[in-house]
Amino acid sequence: MPESERDKRRVAVLISGRGSNMKSLVEQADGYEVVLVASNKPLAPGLEWARDRAIPTWTWDSRATDKASWEAALDRSLTDHRIGTVALAGFMRILSPEFIARWSGRIVNIHPSLLPKYRGLDTHRRAIEAGDELAGCSVHLVTDEVDAGDVIAKAEVPILAADTAAELEARVLAAEHLLYPKALSQFVSR
Ligand code: GRF
Repeated sequence: MPESERDKRRVAVLISGRGSNMKSLVEQADGYEVVLVASNKPLAPGLEWARDRAIPTWTWDSRATDKASWEAALDRSLTDHRIGTVALAGFMRILSPEFIARWSGRIVNIHPSLLPKYRGLDTHRRAIEAGDELAGCSVHLVTDEVDAGDVIAKAEVPILAADTAAELEARVLAAEHLLYPKALSQFVSR
């Protein structure tokens, strides 16, 4: 699809699970619209939530095929829906360099740490164990290197003395739900 026909305000959200960030992107949409929710997990609870709201969904179990076929099918769906921006939200699959190159500069992700600290998994436990006083979340551009693209927005959350990883996770998640819609609004209007 020629660059000029892509509408960056038409957003696809990619999920693998409950999709609470996807819900906040839908409910707080400002300057963009979530026109597709896609998943590599056909039973992801977030898909049902989207269907109930008549938001188009796409899913194909990524374990049922090879990565290139799966990504080609996703790419066709994104193109069919004239998607200009892809927002990863709890999407637990690493996209290939080829797919990322095709969507270069148009894929963002939310990560539950103050990047560049704690890329990857288990961010809350790692922040507590390091004795950090601040945790938080970051919205960043997606590049070939996991959780390493340019950060476009961050929110800080205090770590309290008695925090468990689960308690911190809940506090950070609440901050994610405010940060991601704002960051996406700014991203599509840049
Ligand atoms: C969030 O903490 C997000 O930052 C991380 O995975 C979690 C997904 O949660 N990438 P949800 O599916 O959005 O509820």
